[in-house]
Amino acid sequence: MVKNKKDTVVFFDTTLRDGEQSPGASMTFQEKLLVAQQLASMSVDIIEAGFPISSEGDFESVKSIAQQVKGPVICGLSRANTKDITTCWNAIKYSKKPRIHTFIATSDLHIEKKLQKTRKQVFDMAVNAVKLAKSFCDDVEFSAEDASRSDVEYLCSIVEAVIEAGATTVNIPDTVGYSIPSEFGKLIATIKQRVKNIDKAVISVHCHNDLGLGVANSLAAIENGARQIECTINGIGERAGNAALEEIVMAIKTKPLFYPVNYNIKTKEIYKASRLVSNLTGVVVQPNKAIVGVNAFAHESGIHQDGMLKDKRTYEIMSPQDVGVPESMLVLGKHSGRHAFFKRLKDLGYKLEPNVMEDLFAKFKLLADKKKCVFDDDINSLVEQSVSGVQEVFTVDYVNVTSGVGVIPTATIRLVKTVKNKKEVIQEAACGSGPVDAAYKAIDKITGIKVDLEDYTLRAVSGGEDAQGEVNVKVKYDGATYIGKGMSTDIVEASINAYIHAVNKIVIMQFGGKK
Ligand code: KIV
Ligand code: ZN
Repeated sequence: MVKNKKDTVVFFDTTLRDGEQSPGASMTFQEKLLVAQQLASMSVDIIEAGFPISSEGDFESVKSIAQQVKGPVICGLSRANTKDITTCWNAIKYSKKPRIHTFIATSDLHIEKKLQKTRKQVFDMAVNAVKLAKSFCDDVEFSAEDASRSDVEYLCSIVEAVIEAGATTVNIPDTVGYSIPSEFGKLIATIKQRVKNIDKAVISVHCHNDLGLGVANSLAAIENGARQIECTINGIGERAGNAALEEIVMAIKTKPLFYPVNYNIKTKEIYKASRLVSNLTGVVVQPNKAIVGVNAFAHESGIHQDGMLKDKRTYEIMSPQDVGVPESMLVLGKHSGRHAFFKRLKDLGYKLEPNVMEDLFAKFKLLADKKKCVFDDDINSLVEQSVSGVQEVFTVDYVNVTSGVGVIPTATIRLVKTVKNKKEVIQEAACGSGPVDAAYKAIDKITGIKVDLEDYTLRAVSGGEDAQGEVNVKVKYDGATYIGKGMSTDIVEASINAYIHAVNKIVIMQFGGKK
């Protein structure tokens, strides 16, 4: 049981840094900004916006998040060296609340094998890194990578030294997800007991999920005095991912007697954040995922449904509304006007510029002509596609696809290519193993960009016979993975839109929009 009643547990979201390290989860500059804005709407305390030294693109996106996202502390990651820390500062210094996060590994395995250094060298590097970071910025976090496999004496001595050097947060990561809750809780209790100056810093934890225990370990850490939790939306991250923000905050909210601590997260924003991250990264949320899976609040068995009708508490420990799952799904149709559409956008939590709303209304009308009922999920997808900010170098102008039994699938595609306001119309045809394959081959001929299709998924966005098909593709080009998403009531068209979406990202990110 947590003892100190007045404490606040702060949430440090690393979706844009550790989360983005999930295989294939890379996001464009504008997509990261969108996620950061949603994290701010959710009142996340600290956003780890990226690892500025890792690439020019990461530097620029951390910088623009620092410039544009108000509310949370904006943090950048750096290794324990001068170049990383200086670059990190140059990216985050635009924020009103900047934080430098510097780290070095402290387990003997990492020190000897990975860093090829001695304990003494690592100790000095940690202290010097924190001193340098402190010369730029008051708010400095130090992480002892692989802390849970480090010698406890040594770990405590480094923690004490970095606090002495100015660290205001000391993070104890379970980097490889090796701990179990009782063991990890004990480690936090030991640090709290043994480190003399621990009251001068916040103890943080960062738990990976290799044994499926990331959330359980984070909660055990809170019980033992940790007051910062590092986590990600939907639990995305390296390998099996990180502890999921939504699961930790809802555990605290649902068990107030067990965790009598404050937190700042607006839980009603959780569902939107989950959908946004899933849509932008292409990392699908499993149906039975706690809190945000589609089945998290579904009651299938007759006995359960009967119980729910009599009293929801029989089978529901929290309400879907608490995490922002929309109450009514059926909303608009082709007779709905501008006013109703704008109100629904507002009810769904979007704060958009008038020109963006007008553009969305035009798209909504086109959709409503094809589809009897436009559901909240349709609207969410429209918004996410329109504001993802991927510049449309290639747009679809004409599609003709033939396929059938005894017919060779063939596609004729015409795309418009726009570079610096100059338009060029290009047409190609190709055969394939199916209509989508034929279309993709024709597109490859037009763009001259040969990608490897790594993954293709199709799902119905909302129920009913006229449901829209949503296609997500994962393509690989020049070693990097790109996600594309397309929607339409016609699944071939949705497939083409998804592919073009991914190709446009490649054109922007690899060729600066000039291919
Ligand atoms: O898993 C880890 O140890 C990390 C650190 C950089 C905090 O991601
Ligand atoms: Zn990590």
